[in-house]
Amino acid sequence: MTTKDSMDKVVSLCKRRGFVFQGSEIYGGLKGTWDLGPLGVALNNNIKREWWKMFVEDREDMYGLDAAILMNAKTWEASGHTGAGFCDPLVEDTETGERYRADHLLKDNGIEADGLTLEQIDSLIFDTGVKSPKGNPLSKARQFNMMFETRIGAVAGPEGLVYLRPETAQGIFVNFKNVVDSMAPKIPFGIAQIGKAFRNEIAPREFLFRVREFEQMEIEYFVKESEWKERFELLRQDLWKWFDHLGLNRANVQEYDVPANDLAHYSKRTIDFEYNFPGKGFDELAGFAYRTDHDLKSHMNASGQSMEYIEPDGARFIPHVLEPSFGVGRAFTAVLCEAYTEDEMGGEVRAFLKLPKHLAPYRVAVSPLLKNKPELVEKAREVFKLLKKEFGNVAWDDNGNIGKRYRRQDEIGTPACIVIDFETLGQEKPELGDTVTVRDRDTGEQTRVAIAELVNYLK
Ligand code: GAP
Repeated sequence: MTTKDSMDKVVSLCKRRGFVFQGSEIYGGLKGTWDLGPLGVALNNNIKREWWKMFVEDREDMYGLDAAILMNAKTWEASGHTGAGFCDPLVEDTETGERYRADHLLKDNGIEADGLTLEQIDSLIFDTGVKSPKGNPLSKARQFNMMFETRIGAVAGPEGLVYLRPETAQGIFVNFKNVVDSMAPKIPFGIAQIGKAFRNEIAPREFLFRVREFEQMEIEYFVKESEWKERFELLRQDLWKWFDHLGLNRANVQEYDVPANDLAHYSKRTIDFEYNFPGKGFDELAGFAYRTDHDLKSHMNASGQSMEYIEPDGARFIPHVLEPSFGVGRAFTAVLCEAYTEDEMGGEVRAFLKLPKHLAPYRVAVSPLLKNKPELVEKAREVFKLLKKEFGNVAWDDNGNIGKRYRRQDEIGTPACIVIDFETLGQEKPELGDTVTVRDRDTGEQTRVAIAELVNYLK
């Protein structure tokens, strides 16, 4: 799965099978937005649920939070997001006015451009003669802030200015004291949140990879300064366990230690976890940053509220922060790219999604062999109800012949298909009564299983 071709196949499968649609498609779309279809929302929810379970419910040192998207604008002044720290370098095509991210444009021309100042970008463009993709000269580079502005209240004026949050992290920092006061957590501990974030990306691109509206799963993990390195190592291993749980082959995931000149304004050390996206190569899947005490200190100074943690012995200090930050859309894309497989079955090329069982939109599909035989349909409905009660995400599929159903379920990653036939009714071989055929997605093998054993068998 390393060709450009296969990424295109994943994108087209997503559209055809109801995973992802272009945002506002009937009006020509809205750049940088995508809508999740019935199967996409199921996969997305499964990723978020598994993350919450692994990082919050299965641990004793994590607390959940769901903060508002709209926050007092002072939050973003204190965090540094209104300043140059949250800007991307922008250049314009001097003839068409089209805008580009300068560092991406340079990279597309084979020129390394991470962490450059505007002046350095200008002189690189001058020295190398890089033009816009339309072949026209470029303007000087300038900073472009990525936060979306909006207004609250009925009066249009600067006092109503708010921003759509560009990261979920700040909702956690401003609630640090609330969580400490209400839950009395012992340090080290983390606060986790899943939610939407918005960035006015200059050039959204590459499917869900760089979009303007996306979801993040973030943890702010509070530690004593003297312990940050040790805790960083422990969390780093937890991140690897998460990527394993997503079914990503370790050969397709790598760590990238972000060099000092390219660190975000708040970070002293960051490791990007990169996935080998087909046709694109290794690029950021998640970030893991040591944010020092930058955020809590900034909010303490700006709000006048104490952000100190008080130990049982009365010692007071501002905790330091480790931040694993995951984009749901990038995990979603990586999971699909990893799962997309082609093999040969019955003399034909078959495309299927080898999704882990805990992520597949449907855990199992149930079919009557023939949909015009009421006795088969009735028995199949019984089995469907039994499994639905147990697993929830069970598909009823009686569309087309059995071969077509298998192909469709393979393509959407359903791990098992169950068929109710005349043998189930005990009409052909009485000894097979009340058994069904279970077909395995990956091998195509079919096994006869008693209905009474089905739930255990599937588990
Ligand atoms: N709170 C830290 C933070 O937001 P980030 O590296 O800017 O750090 C974290 O973002 C993760 O969010 C990224 O690793 C990526 O998975 C996701 N992400 C960021 N910008 C995105 C975008 N425009 N579209 C899709 N995902 C994005």
